[in-house]
Amino acid sequence: MVIMMILYIILGVIGFIILFLIILSLPRKENERIHNIEAIDNPDVVKGFETMAKTPAFAWIHKKIVSKLTEFLPEGIIVDLGCGSGNLIVRLAKKFPNSEIIGVDNSSEMLKTAKERAEKKIKSRKIKFKKGSANKLPFNDNSIDFVVSSLSLHHWINPTEALQEIYRVLKKHGYLIIFDFRRNSRKFFYGLLKFATTIVVPKALKDINEPLGSLLSSYTENEMREIFNHTSFDKIDIEALMAWVFIIAKKNKDI
Ligand SMILES: C[S@@+](CC[C@H](N)C(=O)[O-])C[C@H]1O[C@@H](n2cnc3c(N)ncnc32)[C@H](O)[C@@H]1O
Repeated sequence: MVIMMILYIILGVIGFIILFLIILSLPRKENERIHNIEAIDNPDVVKGFETMAKTPAFAWIHKKIVSKLTEFLPEGIIVDLGCGSGNLIVRLAKKFPNSEIIGVDNSSEMLKTAKERAEKKIKSRKIKFKKGSANKLPFNDNSIDFVVSSLSLHHWINPTEALQEIYRVLKKHGYLIIFDFRRNSRKFFYGLLKFATTIVVPKALKDINEPLGSLLSSYTENEMREIFNHTSFDKIDIEALMAWVFIIAKKNKDI
């Protein structure tokens, strides 16, 4: 009798956990997009971001991006657009020692942190950094082989213009690889980011509603498709996963 009761309780708990996980993995009702800040220039926010960027979650994201880029056997010049504090760029420099790696960001404070990180972690060569906005890139037409961008698109004020600008600087047959949140993430991820924003992250980030604010200012896959439809990219692949997307776009013609 006691054994049966214990069994019922265990089955009840398992059932409850399964139900809970099913509910969390359901698609979420779509919120309106709420744009958050563009350049992350406040030193306290940069410090807070640094704390988050050192977590396994970020390491996992950056590893995924490097592995996606590896599929394209990159050579030549790789630009990390919105390079932030330089975690991804250091990985890129280690993985692709024969490529020229350039970090671009419109925040001087982020670039300062990124330069320090690169100097400390990559001794064998110098990584270049340039201050610049996605909407006005500091490069000539048809001069870059790969543009990679991680968790930055949702900050850009005019994404169509920025993508067209990326198109301008890419060489013919060059690739753009974007990783970003998608606003219509699964419920589970929304809950996780809400929890992080309210409880876990440093105060400077809580004050600007991050990282939840980034999710809410990101685009759904359909919105991203629509944005790309207004650019010259004609080969676009959007892979939507739990809470994020990989976008691969190729430039097929010279401008
Ligand atoms: C959330 S951080 C991501 C940093 C880094 N890519 C990573 O994955 O760790 C977003 C970065 O994009 C930069 N950013 C935002 N808008 C930008 C723009 N229009 N042009 C260039 N950089 C921008 C911010 O300053 C910030 O450093």
